[in-house]
Amino acid sequence: MAIVAPSFLSANFLNLEADCRMINESEADWFHLDIMDGRFVPNISFGPMIVEFIRKTTTKVCDVHLMILEPEKYVEDFKKAGADMLTVHEECCVHLHRNIQQIKSLGMQCGVALNPHTPVESLKEVLDDLDMVLIMSVNPGFGGQKFIPNTLNKIRTLRRMITERGIATKIEIDGGVTLDNAAAIMKAGADVLVAGNTVFKSRDPKDTIAQLKKITR
Ligand code: DX5
Ligand code: ZN
Repeated sequence: MAIVAPSFLSANFLNLEADCRMINESEADWFHLDIMDGRFVPNISFGPMIVEFIRKTTTKVCDVHLMILEPEKYVEDFKKAGADMLTVHEECCVHLHRNIQQIKSLGMQCGVALNPHTPVESLKEVLDDLDMVLIMSVNPGFGGQKFIPNTLNKIRTLRRMITERGIATKIEIDGGVTLDNAAAIMKAGADVLVAGNTVFKSRDPKDTIAQLKKITR
């Protein structure tokens, strides 16, 4: 069964408390929080202050996805804000190994995200250190985009690498996940499904989350 992580990028920011309550009452496993800097990605979202508020509403895992340049400058802030899992982009890290150690030394789980053009093989020297690899299935920056089909090949390749090494690194898929493609994504070898629009723009978000869990059983 998939670990389901609704992305708050598509939540109602005028009433975040209601959306937090809804996710808490739902079968969702994680809160996925997207941080955008307007430099690495064309959009600006929110920062550690909002993460801190959201953190207070839940005991579920806070999965923070940094789409920012020079992430090392903010790692401590997100630790203080209550992130459990902190994911940085491979494309943003000149010293990726150092970034990973920094995150882990603060007691957080560490993920590395890959843009659609970045091969999964680029992580082969650090894969054993990672709790998670986030494969972007759209170009990062916005919710509601269409799933890029080649992602399925990347998932299969990464799953093979993880199995060969006998490690427990999770594979998270982010962007364009729907009720129609969730089963195929899981079959390719994913563990975690991020869903923004599919959850928050649906008529009954709680039921949509239940369906995502059910079809990936
Ligand atoms: C995109 C973000 C995603 C986004 C997913 O850059 O990383 O987490 O919110 O949104 P959907 O599920 O609507 O594609
Ligand atoms: Zn994300």
